[in-house]
Amino acid sequence: MLNWLKGKRETPATAVVRIQRFNPDVDEKPYLQEFEVAVTEDKTLLNVLHDIKTMTDGSLSYRRSCRHAICGSCAMNVNGMNKLICHQRLKDNLDWQGRVTIRPLPYLPIIKDLVVDRSSFWEQYQRAKPWLVPPDDVPEKEFRMTPEEVEALRNAETCIMCGACYSACPVVALNKQYIGPHALLKSFQRVMDPRDTIPGERLADVGTDEGVYRCHTIFNCIDACPKGLDPAGAIETLRKLAQKREAFEEARAERQQQ
Ligand code: FES
Repeated sequence: MLNWLKGKRETPATAVVRIQRFNPDVDEKPYLQEFEVAVTEDKTLLNVLHDIKTMTDGSLSYRRSCRHAICGSCAMNVNGMNKLICHQRLKDNLDWQGRVTIRPLPYLPIIKDLVVDRSSFWEQYQRAKPWLVPPDDVPEKEFRMTPEEVEALRNAETCIMCGACYSACPVVALNKQYIGPHALLKSFQRVMDPRDTIPGERLADVGTDEGVYRCHTIFNCIDACPKGLDPAGAIETLRKLAQKREAFEEARAERQQQ
């Protein structure tokens, strides 16, 4: 105990994992269930759920796939923060009493236990027209990009669509019409891509009260992103570009002629 207070975190031999359970067929509301698990140096929170499911309670439901922070399916709420649990060690998430609490992503309907319904997340993503629209006649020479454009695209294209930012956004919680930080980050990626031919249409789509002007710049999306991306910065750029939409589109068309 003294070492915890001094900031020296000795790894305890066991930990209490509190997991939010909810089976809509039998439960009136969600509740927390505690499991005692052994702590080992590299055990992840996903390992913990897997151990519980295989050895203690096979009815526990959660999503996972890659186990390498790539697919985004294991995003959950750990001690109040959205995280990829395959990328989180158990020992790093214990409080001073040796406990960790895992809940499903907030603000989304619960299907069962830690599995949420992401339909609204994907519907909003579709609204951002996430596909590239290149010129009809593909030029023979390559599209040139500035280092700033490369950096902007690199930031956006590493999004793994885990939903951590979307479900951390209080504006999403209050207004399901808001397109959301994930979709706006994708829109930003396409708008900034010099190969795209419809930046004006995209800026008109997102330059609305359900788009960039609905964001309250609370920055939860930045805190929640497990890849360290900056959806709030992308939204700010889209706001500025939406003000000069026609000029931006003309400049893009001119550039593609060169
Ligand atoms: Fe794929 Fe965690 S299981 S990101």
